[in-house]
Amino acid sequence: MSNLVAYFSHPDPFNPEGDGESEPPSGYVQRDGSVLGTVQVMAEVIAKVTHASTYRIQSKRIYPSNFKILEQISKAEKQRGDRPELREPIPDLKDVENVFLGYPMWWMDAPMAVYSFLEKADLKGKELYLFAAQSDYGLAGTLKTITDMAKGAKVNQTPLSASCYLTIEQLQQEVIAWLYKVNG
Ligand SMILES: Cc1cc2nc3c(=O)[nH]c(=O)nc-3n(C[C@H](O)[C@H](O)[C@H](O)COP(=O)(O)O)c2cc1C
Repeated sequence: MSNLVAYFSHPDPFNPEGDGESEPPSGYVQRDGSVLGTVQVMAEVIAKVTHASTYRIQSKRIYPSNFKILEQISKAEKQRGDRPELREPIPDLKDVENVFLGYPMWWMDAPMAVYSFLEKADLKGKELYLFAAQSDYGLAGTLKTITDMAKGAKVNQTPLSASCYLTIEQLQQEVIAWLYKVNG
């Protein structure tokens, strides 16, 4: 049996530099000259500690780094309840026991591609652990929404909600403390 970390995180790896017109939104982490998402940093820690494989949930649509444009696109997707097509097929989950699902809060919700994943992935019989990054507005209704959607999965009711204003070191510490709490 194995573990999987499935996560959505911006910046998009296909467009890491953005268009230079706006400041990157909060929650971007710089490491060795490259820009990482907060959720990406959290996912890397979980994968390392739990020896999990990773799957990055990406919409086929390439999101801009320009925050104003991203805001408009993501808001419209949420209002329409879009289920964007995913860029990569969902990995084989047959032997996966624990799934760690990570997402940033977008408009008091998860990005719509996370729901595309949840609708497509067969999570029956698996333990599902949620971890999210947010700019201090919390997880809103996402724990309940995801618990309702992930039919047949046992959704752990202690999600990790990390502030995007933490440093990489603080984030790592929060993730490790949370893993001990939920997973022993
Ligand atoms: C389009 C958009 C909408 C956001 N909406 C929220 C929100 O509703 N509540 C919140 O706390 N943070 C919100 N944020 C902040 C992100 O959740 C935060 O920056 C997070 O760390 C991003 O994770 P990432 O860098 O892995 O993508 C939003 C960010 C973006 C880009």
